[in-house]
Amino acid sequence: MNSDKSITSSRKKEHLEISLSGDVTFKTKTTGFENYDFVHDAITEVDIHKINFRTKFFGKNINYPFLISCMTGGTSEAENVNAQLAIVAENLNIPIGVGSQRQALENDDFVESFKIVRKNAPNVPVLSNIGASQLVQFNSMNPIRKIVEMIDADALVIHVNPLQEMLQKEGETDFKGLLKSLRFIVKNLDVPVIVKEIGAGISYGAATKLLETGVKGIDVAGAGGTSWAGIEILRNTNNDNYYFWDWGLPTSFCIKEVYKLKKKYKFTLIGSGGINTAADAAKAFALGADIVASARVILLELQKNGIDGTQKFITSWFDTIRKIMYLTGSKSLKALRKDKIMRKDLLY
Ligand SMILES: Cc1cc2nc3c(=O)[nH]c(=O)nc-3n(C[C@H](O)[C@H](O)[C@H](O)COP(=O)(O)O)c2cc1C
Repeated sequence: MNSDKSITSSRKKEHLEISLSGDVTFKTKTTGFENYDFVHDAITEVDIHKINFRTKFFGKNINYPFLISCMTGGTSEAENVNAQLAIVAENLNIPIGVGSQRQALENDDFVESFKIVRKNAPNVPVLSNIGASQLVQFNSMNPIRKIVEMIDADALVIHVNPLQEMLQKEGETDFKGLLKSLRFIVKNLDVPVIVKEIGAGISYGAATKLLETGVKGIDVAGAGGTSWAGIEILRNTNNDNYYFWDWGLPTSFCIKEVYKLKKKYKFTLIGSGGINTAADAAKAFALGADIVASARVILLELQKNGIDGTQKFITSWFDTIRKIMYLTGSKSLKALRKDKIMRKDLLY
């Protein structure tokens, strides 16, 4: 019989396998980035060689505003993936998140699959991860402190995933008390809290509620990249949930909306969900993201071209973004955020 313990681990294994092998992108919905173009500046005075991307992320200096999104852990396959991703993060001096640490709260079997990240990336920001559906079941700070200490995390990421939980046979759809739990954790944890979606996006209204609890980061993880509904539908072919494959708010829309809240709240805005090219990333910055994050595209690159290939993949994005900044007269990412893109329909 399958125990609760092995269910979490085998689900994680399936997620990894389906992500790497199946077509799990959105069917017709997109991130919306293709609706924008950059505003060419014929009299740019930007020195392309002077553009640098160094910035701070939750107290640590990083070389590029790029986060390797929370993905995996809790299986032996995951340990190998995390070990390699952490080397990429350390070599590039960029932040990295681990996948949900739920499995490591259930038993010690795969704790190393999470710890390896801090071991291989001792100097960069490393982010802990747990789901909102677990959070509302905790009745003390102990499990939270345990997962943060496990990897000496610089911040805790809580993923909100009502769509995914709804589509999982074993899903937990009771999120009652979530905002109260968040307020409690924000107050009592000594590292900052970030909340992320996983591909259905965070709206202006949802972000406002989150920021009122005191969270210090919002990762919109919008629609248009990996469809987690798609992955769950593929895990459970015998269902009638196909309608939800394309559910969610496009990433470009989420970034634009949540950015408006910068006027009232101090927080880090992470742009993610289908950031699959340098132009996607540049448009995310132009719409207001402080930092961008990618998940599945990085996993695919690692599988295909290993650690070196993944490093080149990320640095080549920033070479292209540097060129985009030069051509739009943006000497910094702050400048790129000032009217440097426009909707394509206004060009004709
Ligand atoms: C294999 C895999 C496992 C994931 N597991 C988690 C997880 O445990 N926790 C989490 O917050 N997000 C998880 N995600 C979601 C990603 O962090 C990200 O939000 C989502 O895939 C959308 O980004 P993308 O379009 O760049 O893939 C996972 C993604 C992948 C590809």
